[in-house]
Amino acid sequence: SAARKEYDPDRDFVLKMRNAGKNVVILYGSQTGTAEDFATRLSKDIHSPAVRPLVLDPELYDWQCLASLSNEELVIFVLATAGEGEPTDNMEAWYNALASDPEALDDSEVPEFRSPKDRELDEDLPLQGISYAMFGLGNNTYEQFNHHARVVDRRLLSLGASRVGERGEGDDDADIEEDFSRWKEATLPLIREHLGSTTPLESGDESMPEPTWKVVEMDSTQQAWVKGELFEGAVATHDSRHPFLAPVTAATELTPAADRHLLHVEVDLAGSGMRHEAGDHIGVYPTNADEEVDLMLDALELLDKADVPICVRATDPFAPQQSLFPVETTTYRAAFRHYLEITAPVPRSQIKSMVLPYARSEAARSFLRPLAEDKDAHAATVGSGCMSLARLVNAVREAEKKAGSLGDGEQPFALPIEAAFELCPRLQARLYSISSSGKVHPERPTITAVVLQYDAKTPLSAQAKMGARRCGVATNYLLGALRYLRGDYAVDLAATAGSTALRTGYLVTNNKQLPIADASSVAMVRDHKDHVLQSFTLQPAPNSSLEARELTMPVFIRKSAFRLPADQATPIIMIGPGTGLAPMRAFIQERAQAARENPSQPMGTALLFFGARTEAHDYMYREELEQLFEDIRQAAPASQIITAFSRDQPQKIYVQHRLAEHGELVYRTLLSGQQRLGGAPKAHVYVCGDAKNMAKDVSKALASLIAEREAISEEIAARWISDMRKLSRYQEDVWS
Ligand code: FAD
Ligand code: 2AM
Repeated sequence: SAARKEYDPDRDFVLKMRNAGKNVVILYGSQTGTAEDFATRLSKDIHSPAVRPLVLDPELYDWQCLASLSNEELVIFVLATAGEGEPTDNMEAWYNALASDPEALDDSEVPEFRSPKDRELDEDLPLQGISYAMFGLGNNTYEQFNHHARVVDRRLLSLGASRVGERGEGDDDADIEEDFSRWKEATLPLIREHLGSTTPLESGDESMPEPTWKVVEMDSTQQAWVKGELFEGAVATHDSRHPFLAPVTAATELTPAADRHLLHVEVDLAGSGMRHEAGDHIGVYPTNADEEVDLMLDALELLDKADVPICVRATDPFAPQQSLFPVETTTYRAAFRHYLEITAPVPRSQIKSMVLPYARSEAARSFLRPLAEDKDAHAATVGSGCMSLARLVNAVREAEKKAGSLGDGEQPFALPIEAAFELCPRLQARLYSISSSGKVHPERPTITAVVLQYDAKTPLSAQAKMGARRCGVATNYLLGALRYLRGDYAVDLAATAGSTALRTGYLVTNNKQLPIADASSVAMVRDHKDHVLQSFTLQPAPNSSLEARELTMPVFIRKSAFRLPADQATPIIMIGPGTGLAPMRAFIQERAQAARENPSQPMGTALLFFGARTEAHDYMYREELEQLFEDIRQAAPASQIITAFSRDQPQKIYVQHRLAEHGELVYRTLLSGQQRLGGAPKAHVYVCGDAKNMAKDVSKALASLIAEREAISEEIAARWISDMRKLSRYQEDVWS
């Protein structure tokens, strides 16, 4: 059995909770920050004199301490399911122990003195008398919906713990905010009752929320991290909490399409110690666009103080996180630029608890109340208008203006900075499937991404500075990097300054020399030309080649289970429409290299099904892929690319249609030399890209072509595919 872990008081969450004077621990299993955000919000919502929650990251604590909770205390799990039903990274240890070790909780791991006095320990039911509540986050487009929360829930129950209320299941594919609200409405009264609270929950409570953060403005001579370095100091190993500032070594547009940008971005990992294999993901911490940052600063009436150094500290001295940002001192501008998600629509429950209470006029209240209380009104205005916090604030002001003069004792709407800091979730890294092979290009992983730009369905008033255009944070940050490297900003800046164009260089003012880094250099010159920067010149960089530009991006590698078969003789069928091509390109590079190096070694057939809108505009990496397949065919002659261009003819043609058309070839490749399948095929199938429709349609098409040729029902064929999944022979890397 596994080695017993020493008791470590620093990893005892029950002790931590009691020392902080609390009686509830909220533990979150979070991969992209949503569960963590829900946990934090939950803690706000349930807080009362009788219910005193503390939000903690399970990764930092030992699960064995569960057994020492008393029945006057409670633990609440907020657990996201990652990818194919796995726990999130920060819950992995808990999950593995709880899911697999039946004897895990029943003995000496929990020190004697910490056993609860008020209950008898039953050997078989070590968690008897312990209460918990559970909310799971998942996405119904994935096979294993909410698997993580379900497994932990079942296990806790079987160990004797009792659940307060029902297990909540949020579905990110439908309306996870509503699922969460419904669960809270049903469960919070039970939690309060469990903890002996006698005061009923007031409905429609619009009382002032207690601030979690206090902002201290510093002396303006104070050194501030205006550039917002994510993490101070050097670290030995880089991970999602300690990203590596990787130089961007290439950034190009892959296709000539005018209405869309398909990007190829390469970073340099030299010196980082990070390794990647074909199938892994790269995480990128983006920076918010200047226009969005300015919109926010303006909405909060902070534009003139944007660059004042600030410290943001917890008001609760026991809060596990004492500083909101990973740096001690920052500025308002840097906080919104680097650390907070500022473009997402504001959830209904957040409007209710954190925006509505600050309304001090009837006009503001009657504008906000329906958005806080009526699901449909919220969806129609905030949802389809893609109303970020800044846009919402501006819309409230508009409503006040429209209503005319304010009444007695009324005041114009203003949202304090502390509320904004609480309302904005932390800016999360975005994941990309690495599109190059770690074997072929060990230090230069590449990203293949489509830039997200769309129009909000409900265009909002232009007066409130609300155009309809919305931009994805990370993909537009990547596009900005490309434009910087291409020299667009320097040319733009030179034009603004009325000087000759230069492709790279520095903006030199009285006391500073700034590299022409991004669109903000241009904006700065435009805005401050006449006063702040009394005189400036543009100086060319000594070398105007691409390498002369320093541009780094905070990145980390996330290991994945999406892997080529260990044996190169195993055939592979790759289905990757759109950016789903990314990891397939890595696989193909790897097989092509193997074929070049040793063409006589047996290699399984490789089939690539690639789909895109049009052949002329969207066939990315075409020449390269064709060349790589030439190489592969030296060792595996039947290998080929099969394309589906959906918009080159009147009717749509998708990859799944091509699978059906090439059913015989696919079937023979799956057979890999056998006469009949008669069970799960040996070949490996890979599907990457859109999780919502494509991945399901593809697995259906595959089941039906197998069923036809094996003369079995589609259900049985679907079961074979299920078996293939279990054997990791059918792998998906999909996102929605
Ligand atoms: P965000 O700022 O995060 O905006 C996205 C949000 O905008 C959506 O959640 C949605 O709420 C909203 N939205 C989007 N379109 C609309 C619309 N039409 N109307 C209203 N609202 C809308 N992407 C790639 O391009 N290439 C890859 O290789 C890749 N690999 C991935 C691998 C994994 C494991 C995962 C999880 C994701 C992957 N993605 C990939 C997706 C990628 O991580 C980002 O989600 C994507 O690039 C968008 O990021 P963004 O910051 O630009 O957009
Ligand atoms: P469309 O946009 O013309 O509908 C990459 O995005 C390619 O995937 C595009 O050609 C797109 O077609 C196509 N696509 C859209 N929905 C799909 C689905 N359900 N299955 C497979 N491909 C799809």
